[in-house]
Amino acid sequence: MLINGKHHHTIWVNKTNQQLIQVFDQRYFPHQIEVFDIQTTDEAAFAIREMVVRGAPLIGVTAAYGMYLACIEAEEKINPEEYIYDVAKKLNATRPTAVNLAWAITEMLKVIIPIKENSERIEVALKMANQIKEDDILICENIGLNGVEIIRKVAKQKNGKTVNILTHCNAGWLATIDWGTALSPIYHAQKEGIDIHVWVDETRPRNQGANLTAFELNEQGVAHTLINDNTGGHLMQHGMVDLVIVGTDRTAGNGDVANKIGTYLKALAAHDNNIPFYVGLPSSTLDCSIKNGVKDIPIETRDQNEVKYIQGKVDRKIKSVLICPETTPALNYGFDVTPAKYVTGLITERGICEASEEGIRKLFPEKFD
Ligand code: MRU
Repeated sequence: MLINGKHHHTIWVNKTNQQLIQVFDQRYFPHQIEVFDIQTTDEAAFAIREMVVRGAPLIGVTAAYGMYLACIEAEEKINPEEYIYDVAKKLNATRPTAVNLAWAITEMLKVIIPIKENSERIEVALKMANQIKEDDILICENIGLNGVEIIRKVAKQKNGKTVNILTHCNAGWLATIDWGTALSPIYHAQKEGIDIHVWVDETRPRNQGANLTAFELNEQGVAHTLINDNTGGHLMQHGMVDLVIVGTDRTAGNGDVANKIGTYLKALAAHDNNIPFYVGLPSSTLDCSIKNGVKDIPIETRDQNEVKYIQGKVDRKIKSVLICPETTPALNYGFDVTPAKYVTGLITERGICEASEEGIRKLFPEKFD
């Protein structure tokens, strides 16, 4: 997708130095466009933990390249295999909710562990990480192609009048490699010339909606309006939202959906107002080993200062300001889980299914093996 009219991916291997992985530093969007270099597994872990990169699919791809860097570092270790497993553990511990992290690490281990020769292992690891990246692009594109059907139908029902879509957090191309999950149907609708407008939840405390979703929609020329996190219900009561589409960080085998904190409240409001609530779900975010998402999906707790301080641009500089008494304690859950009963459908790369074990089984039977 576009930044300043130029097509970009969120992560890439440097053209002249294959041992250098580069990403956009999402901590400074939209005020500064900076590239962050990842040359070691410690830097890969830092980038994921500190949210230089974020969004479940991008976290997964970054971890895949992290495992490639582990193979390079392993060359100098007495026991390379043991070292690679240690890095896998280190990367796995960076963020607990987004299951793409564990998924990508497992995919990498499957191909690299059987190889005993260092240079071959490095070569195969790079190929596999590149493959995971390319697959993600295709998956997201297909989520868009499947999801645009829903937007098309609403546009038809409204006789071509603007379709208003609400989204929470950032599940656009910045959360993936290209296209995005929840935003991919929106970009495809734009391509088709459907009149769309997006309500962007600011998404406190890290403001992924304000900083990232608004940024990418703006760069892409999609009509949008930023709203504070408490506005969605009011808009829904007054017929100003036709559809909600969000992303997910982990979806359980029963269709319960973990996503950025606040998603559940939007689902409740949508349900109360008879508004369809869809989830863009790449299969890499499915975790069918979890049978009950509400009970069993691990929820990340983050630093309380993310709640107590807010970051923004002041006098051309990015600054953080305190918004409560210094001694007030804060609680910062990163995600919540929306029960499947509030989800109208899961938009996947293989089609749209019901948010239930039966629905998921029809499209992804292999995920229950
Ligand atoms: O904490 P983040 O920014 O990594 O969380 C990302 C989200 O929760 C997004 O809403 C997203 O839908 C999941 S990734 C496509």
